[in-house]
Amino acid sequence: MDGSVGFVPTMGALHRGHLSLIRRSVEENDHTVVSVFVNPAQFLPGEDLEAYPRREEADAKICEIAGVDVLFMPEISSMYGSDEVKLKAPEYLGYILEGNRRPGHFDGVVRVVMKLFGLVGPKRAYFGKKDAQQLVILQKMVNDLFLPVEIVPVDTVREEDGLALSSRNVYLTPEERRRALSISRSLKSASRLIMAGEYDCAKIAEHMLGIMRDIDVEYVRIVDRSFRPLERVEIQNSIILVAARVGKTRLIDNLWI
Ligand code: PAF
Repeated sequence: MDGSVGFVPTMGALHRGHLSLIRRSVEENDHTVVSVFVNPAQFLPGEDLEAYPRREEADAKICEIAGVDVLFMPEISSMYGSDEVKLKAPEYLGYILEGNRRPGHFDGVVRVVMKLFGLVGPKRAYFGKKDAQQLVILQKMVNDLFLPVEIVPVDTVREEDGLALSSRNVYLTPEERRRALSISRSLKSASRLIMAGEYDCAKIAEHMLGIMRDIDVEYVRIVDRSFRPLERVEIQNSIILVAARVGKTRLIDNLWI
């Protein structure tokens, strides 16, 4: 393909969050490639690989309407072979927080994204800030391996009531969805606290936990852009991260400060 290629890797079940990545790519590149591949290598045993929502026809329609030039939907057998050369996520960044809860998950992510980059050869690749740790790891992969790809971070898209869009939101019952709203409420409230001059991370986290008392919070952490824990918020260099279970569904959300 002549001209610049923008790439949006996805696992399908496309929603408005993906659409904002696609729109950005269509705007900024001559061609846009979207991949839909539910990557088994990033699911741990017992996770929702089988149940993960699959909507190939709807995804294809969305891509067509959004002006995507190539929709790539590979089979597992064409992506993975035996006794492969394997890339691993960084030892610190790949195994804290999400990587600690899901050990090996980011190994599977870097493995597939590296393969996809090899196949697509994009100039730019678009990732949502909602998966903050994934975004920072992929940024590091590109820097460490001198890959000629620009990673473009794109803001999280939310429902009107604040819930961050995620393919896993379909698992929530109406009652769980209502309770899940405390996640985005706590982040909003944290940003108001910070604007009012409260920079103490422990106090901010405690305040957020109070707002999320009706859900099962796995962690609230305030880290810098390299994911090192902070004691005090650093403006333009902090991310507030939340992971929580609501019913059987595990949700993550964050705020970049
Ligand atoms: O964010 C996702 O949907 C996936 O982790 C990705 C980047 C498409 C790799 O499978």
